[in-house]
Amino acid sequence: MALTDGDKKYAGSLNSAMIAGPEGRAAQEYANHFLEPGYEDITKVYIEQLYEGYTEENQESWRTLYDKQMEYLATHASSVYLTGAKSINLVRDHIPYLQGPKSVNHFLQKLTGWQSRAVPGYLPARTFFACLARREFPTTVVIRPKESLHYLPEPDIFHDIFGHVPLHADPVFADFLQTYGKAALLTTDPYHTERLARLFWFTVEFGLIREDGEIKLYGSGLISSPGESVHALTSKEVEHRPFDLDTVCNTSFEIDHYQPILYVLESFAQLRDAMNSYANRLIEEAKQTSAATS
Ligand SMILES: [Fe+2]
Repeated sequence: MALTDGDKKYAGSLNSAMIAGPEGRAAQEYANHFLEPGYEDITKVYIEQLYEGYTEENQESWRTLYDKQMEYLATHASSVYLTGAKSINLVRDHIPYLQGPKSVNHFLQKLTGWQSRAVPGYLPARTFFACLARREFPTTVVIRPKESLHYLPEPDIFHDIFGHVPLHADPVFADFLQTYGKAALLTTDPYHTERLARLFWFTVEFGLIREDGEIKLYGSGLISSPGESVHALTSKEVEHRPFDLDTVCNTSFEIDHYQPILYVLESFAQLRDAMNSYANRLIEEAKQTSAATS
């Protein structure tokens, strides 16, 4: 799931029938109004993964993408990602299940308590944050069409599960991501909202990490992109900068081309600690605001 406001709809040969029924429409409507009076139950933005809706072509797309990416990632992804992928039973044979004894959620529950929840499409930012604050990851269930395997502007289940969810099995990353959601809910100040979006972009979506002296991939936008995963590590057009919270939060980004700047963590503890310090700052600001107005 991308951290993006908007009302984009899946179209074309994307298997949108899976999310276009009355349940999907009702959940999207609820998500769009979440936190307004009468719209306080976050569980109503979730839908079932109608697994029988996947076609054989969809399953083949998953296997093709899985094979291509896992071969590259075996030597270029963070060990935390690779360990997580194994521990949640991410396999090539089939599109992941969200429910049942073989589901990614079955394994995640025991590891960190995170869960992936199917959603019908983009969620407004605050709805998205509310999910993260509960250790629930809004997950697109449709998969990209066969003719767009290498690039799809919207997230799909390959991006959301293959790209994001293995890190949710790691206790340090798991804590970071929940803190991110809680902190983001604390503020409506556009200054902080923009900075937090940048932090998400340059870490969760496009982050790099140094492990044993080598730079490895962990951001979901890189992990799930056959083209950009290679580009991020090999192109002379890409600048690798050391992660620093304020520097990251001050860096703007564009979404429609390969990223020219990427930030490199030294550890996930560094990210968790930076997030905790940002959350504490927001808590202090909220206290001061409430003291000033009372
Ligand atoms: Fe994403």
